[in-house]
Parts: sequence; structure tokens; C-alpha cells
Amino acid sequence: MKKMLIAPSILSCDYGKMAEELERIEKCGADIVHVDVMDGHFVPNITLGAPVVKCIRKYSSLPFDVHLMISDPIDYIEDFVNAGADSITIHLECNSDIDKTLSLIKEKGCKAAVSVKPKTPAKEVFGYLDKVSMVLVMTVEPGFGGQSFMEDMMPKVKAIKEEIDRRGLDVSIQVDGGIGEKTISVAAENGADIFVSGNALFRADDMELQIKKFKALAEKSYCGK
Ligand code: DX5
Ligand code: ZN
Repeated sequence: MKKMLIAPSILSCDYGKMAEELERIEKCGADIVHVDVMDGHFVPNITLGAPVVKCIRKYSSLPFDVHLMISDPIDYIEDFVNAGADSITIHLECNSDIDKTLSLIKEKGCKAAVSVKPKTPAKEVFGYLDKVSMVLVMTVEPGFGGQSFMEDMMPKVKAIKEEIDRRGLDVSIQVDGGIGEKTISVAAENGADIFVSGNALFRADDMELQIKKFKALAEKSYCGK
């Protein structure tokens, strides 16, 4: 079976202790570090940019997955690659040319992914499935951590999973927003295999135990092979 991967979102960590938080994430058994980049334009919040990613990169040996919630990602791809990103996700709703941006990400040696906001339908990603390693289905409106999971995004996850399988592609489906003990199973059941989680992991009494629980729940429910 496909390995279920847990990606803590550092949006919910203590930004004053990033180095320690990154070491904690790794020690607790996470698979990927999810880095939310927001520009105050594509979404109504501002987080961090490539210089910060570059500084914190040395505190983790896990892959860095950079989720760009910015209007013009093509202008910043090189900066994030140089800062140490392993995968870069761009939004289909951004202003940059999607094909050109995905090609640039791959040319620079990173894995490329596309993401869709809640109102963007599944079929919009179908044309990119053979150009990406991953599709990110937002299960909240992007911009802030700690929001409620939108279960009505599950048919979208399912439709994308079915299309990936129908075409025999090897593309992961990531879900992001409101993922916790109560919501991870339904996401896996519909085809997600990478689970971003902010609040539910950083606010847990025991992050290691929480990650173990998440993996067990996802493995039990995953619909795919
Ligand atoms: C939202 C971000 C998410 C967010 C998830 O725009 O992309 O990564 O931090 O946080 P939780 O798990 O708290 O919803
Ligand atoms: Zn994110």
C-alpha cells in the first residue's frame, strides 16, 4: 500500500523557536515539513519568504514542501529552490502561467505540485496530472491555520483519485486544512495519502503519539493500493 505521509504545517509552530520546532517535528516521526508561504495578496495573511526558509533549512533532514499561496509564484521559484525546497506547490488560481511555472520547478530539480482552493472544481487539475508529483486539495479556504475541515471537498478528492487511477499515473493527493483525528480517515477513504496538519499536531499534548495515531487511522481507511 502507498505510504501514508504526515506533514506538519509550521504555520502553527512557535515562530520564535523554529529551529527547536523543526527538530521536534523530526523526532516525533513526521515525514515532510510543510511550509506555508503567503503574500497578503493571494490570501489575506503574510507569513515568510525564501530567506527564512534558507535559514531554517539546516535544522531538518526531512523534505521541505513549500506551499506557495502567492499571486505570482513564477517570480520566486528560483529563490525557494535555492533556499532548499524539495517540492513546490502552486495554486491554479494564481496569475502565473501554470505550465511554465511547473516546468521551471522541475527544471530546477524540485518536485512540482498544483493546488486548488475549495471553489475550484476537480476537472481543472486533470490537464496537469501528468506534469505533477502531487495535487493539493485545500480543505479550508487558504490563509489561516485552525479552521474547520470542509467535508464537502471529499467528492473532489475522490474524483481526482479516480482520474489518477484511470490513467495509471503515480500522483499523490495531499489534503490541507482542519486535518485531525476526526477528519483524517474520511480524507484517506476518498484517496488522500499526504496529510498536512497544523493545529492538531502543534497543540497536541504528545505530538509523537498524535502522528502515530494519524498514520494508523489513514492506513486503516485508505481506499487505494
Ligand atoms: C492554510 C494552510 C494550512 C494550515 C493548516 O492556508 O495552507 O497548511 O496551516 O492548518 P490547520 O491544520 O490548523 O488547519
Ligand atoms: Zn498549506
